[in-house]
Amino acid sequence: MKPLFNKNILVGIGGGIAAYKVPELVRHLRDAGATVRVVMTQAATAFITPLTLQAISSNPVYTELFDPSMEAGMGHIELSRWADAVLIAPATANLMARLAIGLADDLLTTLCLATSAPLCLAPAMNHLMWAAPATRANRDLLLERGVRMFGPNEGKQACGEVGLGRMEEPVDLVRSLETLFTPPLLAGQRILVTAGPTREAIDPVRFLSNRSSGKMGYAIASAAMAMGARVTLVTGPTGQPFPRVTTRINVLSAREMQEAVLSQIDACDIFIACAAVADYRPIAAASQKIKKRGEHSLTLVLEHTDDILTAVNNLSHRPFTVGFAAETDQLELNALDKLRHKGMDMIVANWVGGNIGFESDDNALQVYWEGGKYELDCAPKVKLAYSILEIIAERFQSKHVSSMTISESKIALSR
Ligand code: PMT
Repeated sequence: MKPLFNKNILVGIGGGIAAYKVPELVRHLRDAGATVRVVMTQAATAFITPLTLQAISSNPVYTELFDPSMEAGMGHIELSRWADAVLIAPATANLMARLAIGLADDLLTTLCLATSAPLCLAPAMNHLMWAAPATRANRDLLLERGVRMFGPNEGKQACGEVGLGRMEEPVDLVRSLETLFTPPLLAGQRILVTAGPTREAIDPVRFLSNRSSGKMGYAIASAAMAMGARVTLVTGPTGQPFPRVTTRINVLSAREMQEAVLSQIDACDIFIACAAVADYRPIAAASQKIKKRGEHSLTLVLEHTDDILTAVNNLSHRPFTVGFAAETDQLELNALDKLRHKGMDMIVANWVGGNIGFESDDNALQVYWEGGKYELDCAPKVKLAYSILEIIAERFQSKHVSSMTISESKIALSR
């Protein structure tokens, strides 16, 4: 069965040159079995005529918020209820900004506010506009609210410049849309995620910690929920808004994080250790605030914290485990060493110390497992989280299938 068969797809067109590709998009959607209705902004009509879209979609095209003839049939509320998904292509910088602040000043933005159907954007704009801080902030806000971004792609632009900002090709947009109607990849899986830093007390007012903001771990927890998993989040102190998860446990120290993880581990299929857990803590925290007494230096004696991942990997019935490696040098070598040393199934490695990795909204990642690797280019953490989980789902499934095959063959041998 084709995923888009009998689905109602509302295509919104923004005012950009990539609008000329929308007839091809509509044709592919109809070939995939979808019914398509088109809504255009005023600016879009400068690039392509409603008549063209009407002919290709075999349906009336809508452009006006206040249209007496429409209110009798397909007004903005009816259109927003009719849609199984809304795809805006091209989504211009202006349209993204209006959606981010919740403006309802034309038919398209109004029905986007009114719909409960998934909203997908295919951004297309000059690469500098896409990179502008305002557009990046709007994109991140929309992603956080659950809006899907398809693209943009890198390449030659209408203005003659080269960069990130080309609209995804129509056939790829159809493929991306199909994923909305296929069962979620992690449906039914129980995932335990750790996130953020830990704090190791020096005295009642001071602690040792690190620069982890929790953004990467929270993005993974949110994406796992969106992909159908039941998520338990064990988080250190971050100051970020908490993501919506099934269960959340707040902790402060590495010891508390370990206790929380071990109390939940039996009820999880996949463990993702994204937290930046302290490797050392003061041997004993002073019970009173340490006073300044005029010495030039103060010596703190530290001890190793227990390694949470290793403790999990040593359990007799352990989940599929994924660790992170934060490195300032020899990324691949150190990540592979940790993968083997700590006995995990997969490791996600990132450079830290510069302007990505810790604290930033973006990251670039290398994913390793025995016999394989995958590179994820610099992108928002909220987007990377989905790619990481897709790789995890694939590796988890292949491990599961091969272990089933082994036990099935054992049964066959014993007969
Ligand atoms: O939070 P952000 O600001 O968004 O930044 C994201 C991040 C950089 C923190 C994240 O992407 C990341 O790399 N997290 C792991 C950081 C880290 O502690 O790396 P490590 O190389 O020191 O540890 C390797 C692995 O062992 C990690 O999975 C860690 O959770 C785990 N570990 C470490 C120490 C310990 N005592 N127990 C552990 O389980």
